[in-house]
Amino acid sequence: MRIVKGQDQAGAVSFMVDMIFNHLKEYPRTVIGVATGNTMVPVYAELTQKILEANLDLSQVKWFALDEYVGVPQDHPSSFRFYLLKNLIRPLKLKESSLFLPEVGSYYDEMIQRAGGIDLQMLGVGVNGHIGFNEPGSGRQTRTRKVKLDTKTLESNRLDLKGLPEIPTEAVSMGVGTILEAKKILLLATGHSKREAIHHLMRFEDREDCPVTFLKSHNQFTLIADPPALPEEYLKI
Ligand code: GLP
Repeated sequence: MRIVKGQDQAGAVSFMVDMIFNHLKEYPRTVIGVATGNTMVPVYAELTQKILEANLDLSQVKWFALDEYVGVPQDHPSSFRFYLLKNLIRPLKLKESSLFLPEVGSYYDEMIQRAGGIDLQMLGVGVNGHIGFNEPGSGRQTRTRKVKLDTKTLESNRLDLKGLPEIPTEAVSMGVGTILEAKKILLLATGHSKREAIHHLMRFEDREDCPVTFLKSHNQFTLIADPPALPEEYLKI
């Protein structure tokens, strides 16, 4: 595990952006696993601007979303499809068909494999240590499947789900096993609410009760964090 400490949130975001941008520049026919969540909003804002300025041709890139709610209409602002169209696909004027989302009953892992596998996976982390929507209790071998959302997750995502007649309790998420097959993984953690999950990541390995710890065994895994997300002992380094 490589740990990158950003000077502040903006510094951590810029580091993540640079890594993604350099990857896209070097590999124009790549497959990217894309994450959503509030952490990634500034990443997409900076990344899309940088791509437009450099006039990068991304017409051969495929984007696979990590997860999606079950029961939220595709075009609703709370859906991850809406988020990714708004923050990534439309600003770059990319084809909607280059974006893939997991659906109930879709053979998502096969689709990823057919595309050549994920080269770079972006990740955030939940306050309870979830990655994608692999909540505590998710095993190392899990594949893309329908999952039940944890009460802690629903609580933290409450604001993003407002305006829905019914709050979703399920999602479809890439599995831990699916994520671990990505060639490179970049996890961005910003803010104090993520410190406990990052503390677990630093201390433990392969714990089902905190799925982010499974990433430690991946040989191309980079954690990018700002000071509030890092446990005390890492702030001195
Ligand atoms: C969400 C998503 C994750 C995301 C995490 C953190 O619900 N399923 O992909 O990384 O929870 O979200 P946020 O960045 O809003 O804290």
